[in-house]
Amino acid sequence: MIIAIDGTLASGKGTIATRLAAHYALPHMDTGRLYRATGVAAIQAGVALDDADGLAELASRLDPGIYNEAELRTAEAGIAASKVAALLPVRAALLELQRAFAHQATGAVLDGRDIGTIVCPDADVKLWVDADVETRATRRHRELATAGDTITLDEVLRQLEERDSRDRDRKDAPMKMAADAVLIDTTHLTIDAAVEKARAVVDAAKARQE
Ligand code: C5P
Repeated sequence: MIIAIDGTLASGKGTIATRLAAHYALPHMDTGRLYRATGVAAIQAGVALDDADGLAELASRLDPGIYNEAELRTAEAGIAASKVAALLPVRAALLELQRAFAHQATGAVLDGRDIGTIVCPDADVKLWVDADVETRATRRHRELATAGDTITLDEVLRQLEERDSRDRDRKDAPMKMAADAVLIDTTHLTIDAAVEKARAVVDAAKARQE
């Protein structure tokens, strides 16, 4: 079974993906990590964030395992990720890796922005996770503050709106809900309640397959 989870930044999609993967014993790929690692690799190598060919070359020989979570989770890495993710050669360089992961014999959970639309249009379950922008900014601000970042809530909100529109408005693989995805709005849900809803969708799909 392939479970595709897409949605906006700080909507809770990553946590839902991790929890579903554990519950159904499926391998999980956080595809945003690939774009973050490409962004961090570019900054470290001095490759400009609009140099499509240079970035695609970096992405094609990327080893995301060499970066630690702390360096990939900074606001700077997230901004760099969304800039490099807007370039088609970068997306093309990362596509096969994601498709191969999705189609392994065990099945898989992938989360990102274009899993249900581009990476796995044939996924068995597609979820679209979202929440209102103030709620997401508050969550993201709390995460960054816990990691020691002194960024203000207003600045987080501004960055988040900018990143949402870059992801939504890009020409290639824009962030959007697949026509056959199920919406989970986490604005007023605890994470346990959101996971519960997601599990109900997966269980219904499993029952249909049996
Ligand atoms: O989900 P996360 O915040 O880690 O993603 C970082 C950035 O990577 C996103 O803002 C988006 O631009 C890009 N991304 C993407 N397609 C994916 C996953 C992430 O374009 N499947």
